[in-house]
Amino acid sequence: MTPSPAQSSAPVLTVRGLSARYGNVLALRPVDLHLERGELVAVLGPNGAGKSTLLRALMGLTPGSGRVEFEGNPLPRNDPRAVTQRGVVLVPEGRGVFGPMTVRENLELGAYLLKRNSGEFSARLDRVFALLPRLRDRQTQLAGSLSGGEQQMLAIGRAMMAGPRLLLLDEPSLGLAPRLAAEIIGTLATLNQQGLPVLLVEQRAPMALKIARRAYLMAVGRIVAEVTPDEIASPHDLARYYFSHESV
Ligand SMILES: Nc1ncnc2c1ncn2[C@@H]1O[C@H](COP(=O)(O)OP(=O)(O)OP(=O)(O)O)[C@@H](O)[C@H]1O
Ligand SMILES: [Mg+2]
Repeated sequence: MTPSPAQSSAPVLTVRGLSARYGNVLALRPVDLHLERGELVAVLGPNGAGKSTLLRALMGLTPGSGRVEFEGNPLPRNDPRAVTQRGVVLVPEGRGVFGPMTVRENLELGAYLLKRNSGEFSARLDRVFALLPRLRDRQTQLAGSLSGGEQQMLAIGRAMMAGPRLLLLDEPSLGLAPRLAAEIIGTLATLNQQGLPVLLVEQRAPMALKIARRAYLMAVGRIVAEVTPDEIASPHDLARYYFSHESV
């Protein structure tokens, strides 16, 4: 598909006043953020800050109000499937791979809109295997028997099969040993260098800041600061931002 002129010049993502609630609880207070072409932007914050809620509201998985534009056009609301079809793809917290299915079947699910004998399907599969060679060797293995790091790779591979134009990730390094976490973060850096915009929610701030151009810091359901990696020299700098808003 050829992008329209509006798409080619517009920011990848523009969010204005996006909020979300669970019943009476306002888990996401109105937030503004943007993501420019080719950017990898991190979203950092302590437990319960609203990071997952932000991603879920963007996807339409949690009802939200506010304006979200993707490549210059409004993103469909409350329709996660339509959002994915537009090219905004989420790798959810906890990975969400299907344990009783094979690696290959999980990957195929990511590209459910494509015919399996199509050229585009094979091209996407080749790209996934080039990025994550371990998946190629384990195509017939049940996803449930993969290690935690391999399951995370599979979750990323499955998202890639959907043909993302923007990738959202919710704590992809969660529960992984530092070396595996670094490998996952390195994979995301590679994808971004290939031109894919990425919005990365992470608790491992130092790792995320190594590959991010900017970061939004969240606390108590709000974005409390926007920083560049060089503004955060130590974890104390982050804590200062978070805790100064804790009682608000
Ligand atoms: N389904 C739900 N129903 C009610 N409250 C929820 C629900 N999901 C999240 N919350 C609440 O919304 C707030 C934000 O949660 P959210 O999961 O977005 O935080 P988070 O920043 O992703 O935290 P973590 O780092 O622990 O994943 C929390 O107070 C949480 O308890
Ligand atoms: Mg979360």
